[in-house]
Parts: sequence; structure tokens; C-alpha cells
Amino acid sequence: MPTSTHRLRADFSERELRDALGEFATGVTVIATRTPDGGCTGFTANSFNSVSLDPPLVVWSLNRRASQLTAFERTACYSINVLTHAQQALAERFAEPRGNRFAGVAFRPGPGGAPLLDGCSAWFECRHHSVTPAGDHVLFIGEVLHLGRTHAGDAMLTFHRGRFGST
Ligand SMILES: Cc1cc2nc3c(=O)[nH]c(=O)nc-3n(C[C@H](O)[C@H](O)[C@H](O)COP(=O)(O)O)c2cc1C
Repeated sequence: MPTSTHRLRADFSERELRDALGEFATGVTVIATRTPDGGCTGFTANSFNSVSLDPPLVVWSLNRRASQLTAFERTACYSINVLTHAQQALAERFAEPRGNRFAGVAFRPGPGGAPLLDGCSAWFECRHHSVTPAGDHVLFIGEVLHLGRTHAGDAMLTFHRGRFGST
């Protein structure tokens, strides 16, 4: 066991880490919630993954510097919207800095009130199971309260080597 309290130096650059991680193809989601002023906020995320079936748990992470961190830490309920190949424009929109990402976007409230984007292949409505700082991100584990599949037969939007694609 290392006895030093100093952080071990990695033998790779951040660029090499990003490139290696980029070899792992993922789906693409928009994670969204209501804000205290009655609006909505959300962002594009590919850190989403499954954790547990019983209880039903999922995981995702948010950059500690993201403007939406406080909104997600404080919310009682949020949605995870799984995008289809037809929704690349939404993925780009929710990854860009702009005033109101929801302006002109079709959505409806879920059973718990979180915004559900129209046209997604699946959605999950969650409450917090745990919120844990993890390096330069915060790790959210969500307990799934409600879910649905709407355009489940459509090809999915993928993200691989820094580019969008589809299955
Ligand atoms: C395909 C894709 C996946 C992303 N996944 C994540 C993610 O899982 N976590 C994260 O913090 N940012 C992720 N981002 C970046 C955020 O979408 C973006 O930085 C965020 O919307 C900025 O939020 P802010 O402007 O409110 O600070 C991703 C971006 C793209 C294009």
C-alpha cells in the first residue's frame, strides 16, 4: 500500500485520457428538471448508465462548474431523456451555452413534474439516491420512480470518438 499522501502522478495526459475514454461508445441523454422559478433546465449527458435493478438505480455525473449544479442538487425530481438518432439537434442545443435551452422545445410534465422531451426512445423520472463529489464532477445516483418508452423502435443517437452517430 502506498504510504505517501501525495497524489500519484498519472503517466498520461488529459488528451490521452479523453481519447481513450472516447473509444467507449455511449448513447446520449438530456437530463432535465424544473427550477424554483417555474422554468426548466437541462443538459446533454452521456455519463448516464444503469446501476441496480432492485432497487432501480441509475448513475450520471455533472461537471462541478456547470451552471445547473445547484438546481440538480436541490431538485426533488428530474428526468433522463434517451435521445433517438433524429434528435441530434437537441443534443447539440442542450450542450451549448444559451439563455433558455427549452425555448421552442416540445415537452410535457412527467408524473413527478419533471420535463419529458417529446420524441425520445425512453425516459426515466428519478429522485436522489445519493449525490457525491467525485473529482471535477459530482456523481448522482438516481432512484427511478417512473419510466416510459415512446419511440423505442427508432435508431438511437450515439456518441463515439467525439462525434454523434446512430445505431
Ligand atoms: C455528447 C455529450 C455528452 C455530454 N455529457 C456530459 C456529462 O455526462 N456530464 C457533464 O457534466 N457534461 C456533459 N456534457 C457537456 C454538457 O452538456 C455542457 O457542458 C453543459 O450543458 C454546460 O452546462 P452549463 O452551460 O449550464 O454550465 C456533454 C456534452 C456532449 C456534447
